[in-house]
Amino acid sequence: MKKIDICLSPDLIDQYDLSGTVVVVIDILRATSSITTAIAHGVNIIRPVETLGECRELKLNGFVGAAERNGKKVGGFDMGNSPLSYMNPDLEDTNIAITTTNGTITLKKSKGALQVILGSFLNYSAILTYLERLPCDVLLHCAGWKGKINLEDTLFAGAVVLGLKQMFEYDSDVPAMAAKLYKSAKDNLKSAIEDSSHYSRLMELGLEEDINFCLKFDEYKVIPVMKGDNISKLKLADMLF
Ligand code: MLT
Repeated sequence: MKKIDICLSPDLIDQYDLSGTVVVVIDILRATSSITTAIAHGVNIIRPVETLGECRELKLNGFVGAAERNGKKVGGFDMGNSPLSYMNPDLEDTNIAITTTNGTITLKKSKGALQVILGSFLNYSAILTYLERLPCDVLLHCAGWKGKINLEDTLFAGAVVLGLKQMFEYDSDVPAMAAKLYKSAKDNLKSAIEDSSHYSRLMELGLEEDINFCLKFDEYKVIPVMKGDNISKLKLADMLF
C-alpha cells in the first residue's frame, strides 16, 4: 500500500528517502499560499531562491523581485510575500523570483523527490484529488519557522491526512498526530493558531488580512509544481498517473 508521512521541518528532511516520492511543500503563512495565489492569477513562472543576492540578480535580469524576511518585505525589492499582492493583474504573464524566510529553503530541500508540488488551504481539495490518484508514496513537508516546527503547517498536513482517509498507510506516528491535531482545531482554525509564533508576528505587522486569506479553503483549483528551477501550474502532461 502506498505510504504517507509528514516531515515537520526542513531540518529533519535527511531522515526521509525522497526518491519515488511526491513531496507537498507546505508554508501556510505565507509562501505556498502566496505562490498558489500567484499561479492562480496568471503569473507565468516563479523561481524560488534561497538568498537575497540570487533574488537581486534575477531582478536585474527581468524578473519581478519578491523578498521577505521575518514576515517583512525586504527593501529594494518589488514585492514581499503577501498573497493579496499576488492578485495584481499587472503580474499576469510575468516571471517572479522569490525568496522567503522558510518556504524557499523547504522547496530547495525537497529536491530529489519524484515531484514537488505546493499545498495550502487555498488549493486543499485540488491537492487531495491529485494525491488520491497517485500510485506512489507522499511526503508532506512543512516549512516551520527557522528549523522549528510550527502549528499552522502541521494543521494543514493533518487536514490532508484526514482528507485522504485510509488511502495511504502512515509511515510514522506523525500523520496520526497531525490528523488528531487538525480534528481538534478544524471548527475554528484562526483561533486554533492564535498561539502560533508566526500568527503573532504577522499580527504585530498588521497582516491579519493575510492570515484570514491564508486560512480560506479552496479559493483555487490550481496546483503549483516545481519543474526544474521554476514553479508553474501543474498541467495534465505533468500528472504522474
Ligand atoms: C516563510 O517563508 O516562512 C513565510 O513565507 C514567511 C512569511 O511570508 O511571513
